[in-house]
Amino acid sequence: MIMTTRHAAIFLSASLLLALAAMLMPWSPVEQEWQGYQRTYFASAGTGVGGEIAVRQVIPRLGPDGQPTAKAAPELCLTCHIGLEEISPSHPVETFGCVICHAGLGLALDKEQAHTGLLANPGDLSTAPESCGQSGCHAGHPDPSRNHLEQVTRSLQATYAGGIALVRYTFGAQKDLAPAYGVIGAVDPQPLSQTMPALAVYTITQSSLPPEGQFVQNCLDGGCHLTEPAAKQPYRYRATGCAACHILYNDDGRYTGADPTISRDEPGHPARHQLTTAIPFSQCNHCHNRGNYSLRSMAFTPRPDLPPVSAPIPATMPAEGRRLREYYQPIGQFTKCEWELDCIDCHTQAEAMGDGHLWPDQKSMQYVQCRTCHGTLTEAPATATITDPDDPALRLARLNGHYSLQMGDGVVVTERGEKLGSVQRRDGRLVQFGKVDGREYAVPPVQGSQCQQQPNQQESRYCHQCHTYER
Ligand code: HEC
Ligand code: HEC
Ligand code: HEC
Ligand code: HEC
Ligand code: HEC
Ligand code: HEC
Ligand code: HEC
Repeated sequence: MIMTTRHAAIFLSASLLLALAAMLMPWSPVEQEWQGYQRTYFASAGTGVGGEIAVRQVIPRLGPDGQPTAKAAPELCLTCHIGLEEISPSHPVETFGCVICHAGLGLALDKEQAHTGLLANPGDLSTAPESCGQSGCHAGHPDPSRNHLEQVTRSLQATYAGGIALVRYTFGAQKDLAPAYGVIGAVDPQPLSQTMPALAVYTITQSSLPPEGQFVQNCLDGGCHLTEPAAKQPYRYRATGCAACHILYNDDGRYTGADPTISRDEPGHPARHQLTTAIPFSQCNHCHNRGNYSLRSMAFTPRPDLPPVSAPIPATMPAEGRRLREYYQPIGQFTKCEWELDCIDCHTQAEAMGDGHLWPDQKSMQYVQCRTCHGTLTEAPATATITDPDDPALRLARLNGHYSLQMGDGVVVTERGEKLGSVQRRDGRLVQFGKVDGREYAVPPVQGSQCQQQPNQQESRYCHQCHTYER
C-alpha cells in the first residue's frame, strides 16, 4: 500500500521515540499538540468530566489487506482524534483501527507525519479501491451482491451515461440514444441483453460541439455526480463516492460530534463520523430535488424556495411541516406516502447503488412502481416468503435495526425479484416499517377500494391527477 517497509521502520523508531519522550516528560514546559486536543476534549465533554492526558493506542486485528493478522502495528491516531465516533458497529474501532480505511502512519504523533498519504475520504471513488473497495471488504467476493465498489462505479449516479447520450443525440453528436460515454469510464464483463458492455470517459475535444462544452460546464461540473465534490451551499454539503450516501451531512454542513480536531464552525464536515444504511431523504436530496436542467438553454435552475435562492427554513419549524416543504421542489406532484416515507423505503439498494450492470438510462434502471406496494384493481401486490438464510433482505434488516425480519416472513417483491423486507404480510394485510425511524404504516390496497385508475395507466403521473397532496 502507501507505506514501504523501510519507511515503516524509520517512522516506527522515530515515532516510538517521540511517544516515549512525551510519556517520560509530563513536566515538559512545551505542550505537545495532542495534549492540547485532549485538554479541549476533556474540558468540553461535560461538567466535571476529566480524563487522563495520555497517548491512546489501538492495535487493530486486521492488516492493510483487510485480512485478519496477528502482528498489526499499534495506531496512535486517537491520541489527537480523541472522542471521535466509532465509524459503525460493522467496523469496530478495536478491530479496524483507522489506517485500514484512511492510510496514514499510525505510529506518528506529529500531524504531518501521521497524515502521510492520508485518504481524507476513503469512500471517494478515485481511491476507494485502496480502501472500502480492497479485496475482501467491498470487492472481490464470489457473491456479486457484496461487490459494492463494482456496483457503484457502474451505476448511473456515477456515470450519468443516459444524460450524456441524450444531450449528444439532441445536438447531433451521435446517431442514436445508445450511451458510449460516462462521467467515469466503466466495463461490465457480463452485460445483459439490455445493458452496455463498456463506457469511455466523456471528455471535451476539438471535435466536440459547442453545446457539449456548455453541458459539461453547467451540468456535469455542477456537483450532482458521485465523483464530483458538492457545491459549498446549505442543503448541498455531502461527501463523494460511497460516503455521499452513507455518511450523513447536516443541511448546514456542520460537525456535531466530539472530536476536538474537527471544526464545528466551518461547514463542509460530516454530521458525525458514522456510516449508516438508514439514509434519510435529506441525504439523497443533497443531490436530488435541488432544481431542473433545461436541455434548451443547457442551464440549471435551482429550486426557488431554498438556498441559494431563498433563505433556509428556520430551525423552529416543526418536523412534519419542514419535511413537506423540503422534500420536493415546488412544481413537484406527490401523494402522502411520497413525502411521509423516505426515499429508501421505496427505492431499492440496486436502484440507488447500481446492480453491477451499465444500464443505458434512468428509465431502464428505475423499476419500483406505485403498484409494487399498492397492487392494481385486479391484482394484489406480489409477495414472497423469506426462505434463504443468505437472502440480502435479511442482511439489510439486520444492518438497519429499525425493523425486524425473520425466515418465513412474507414480504413484497419487486419485478426484478428483490424482497422489500420492510413491507411485510401480516394477517392478509401489508404493513410497512420506516427504515429511518421505524414508524409503522398500514399499506392501503387498491384492490377493493373505490380507486378510479385505468389498468394501462400505472405511471405515477396518472395517479397524481387524482392523488396529489397540497402544500
Ligand atoms: C498530532 C495530532 C494528530 C494525529 C496524531 C493525527 N491527526 Fe488526523 N487530524 C489532526 C487535525 C488537527 C486535523 C484537522 C485538520 C488539520 O488541521 O489539518 C486532522 C484531520 C484528519 C482527517 C481529515 C482530513 C481532511 O482533509 O479532511 C483525517 C481523515 C484524519 N485526520 C485521520 C487521521 C488518521 C487516520 C491518523 C492516524 C494515522 C491521524 N489522523 C493522526 C490531528 C492529528
Ligand atoms: C470503515 C472505514 C473507516 C474507518 C475504520 C475510519 N474512518 Fe474516518 N472516515 C471514514 C469516512 C468514509 C469518512 C468520511 C469522509 C467525508 O465525509 O468526506 C471519514 C472521515 C474522517 C475524518 C474527517 C471528518 C471531517 O471533518 O471531514 C476524520 C478526522 C477521521 N475520519 C478519522 C478517523 C480515525 C482517527 C479513525 C480511527 C479511530 C477512523 N477515522 C476510522 C471512514 C473510516
Ligand atoms: C446513491 C447512494 C449510495 C451510494 C453512493 C452507495 N450506497 Fe451503499 N447503500 C445504499 C442504499 C440505499 C442501501 C440499502 C439501504 C437499505 O435499504 O436498507 C445501501 C446498502 C449498502 C450496504 C449494506 C447492504 C449490503 O449489501 O451489504 C453496504 C455494505 C453498502 N451499501 C456499501 C457501499 C459502498 C462500499 C459504497 C461505495 C463503493 C456504497 N455503498 C455507495 C445507497 C448507496
Ligand atoms: C451525489 C449525488 C447523488 C446522491 C447523494 C444521490 N443521487 Fe440518486 N442520482 C444522482 C444522479 C446524478 C442521477 C441521474 C442519473 C441519470 O439521469 O442518468 C441519479 C439517479 C437516481 C435514480 C434513478 C436511476 C437509477 O439508477 O435507479 C434513483 C432511483 C435514485 N437516484 C435514488 C437515490 C436515492 C434513494 C438516494 C439516497 C439514498 C440517492 N439517489 C442519492 C445523484 C445522486
Ligand atoms: C412512496 C414511494 C417513493 C418515495 C418515498 C420516493 N420515490 Fe422515487 N419513485 C417512486 C416510484 C413509484 C417511481 C416511478 C415513477 C413512475 O411510476 O412514474 C419513482 C421514480 C423516481 C426517479 C426516476 C424518475 C424519472 O424521471 O425517471 C428518481 C430519480 C427517484 N424516484 C428518486 C427519488 C428520491 C431521491 C426520493 C427521495 C427524495 C424518492 N424518489 C422518494 C417511488 C418513490
Ligand atoms: C414501498 C411501498 C410504497 C410505494 C412504492 C408506494 N406507496 Fe403509496 N403508500 C404506502 C404506505 C405505507 C401508505 C400509507 C401511508 C399512511 O398511512 O400514512 C401509502 C398510502 C398511499 C395512498 C393513500 C394515502 C393518500 O395519499 O390518500 C395513496 C393514494 C398512495 N399511497 C399512492 C401511491 C402512489 C401514487 C405511488 C407511486 C408514486 C405509491 N403510493 C407508491 C406505501 C407505498
Ligand atoms: C381518476 C382518479 C384516480 C386515479 C387516476 C387514480 N386513483 Fe387511486 N383512488 C381514487 C379514488 C376516488 C379513490 C378512493 C378514495 C377513498 O376511498 O378515499 C382511490 C383510492 C386509492 C387507494 C386506496 C386509498 C385508501 O386510503 O384506501 C390507493 C392505494 C390508490 N387509489 C392508488 C392509486 C394509484 C397507485 C394510482 C395510479 C396507478 C391511482 N390510485 C390512480 C381515484 C384515482
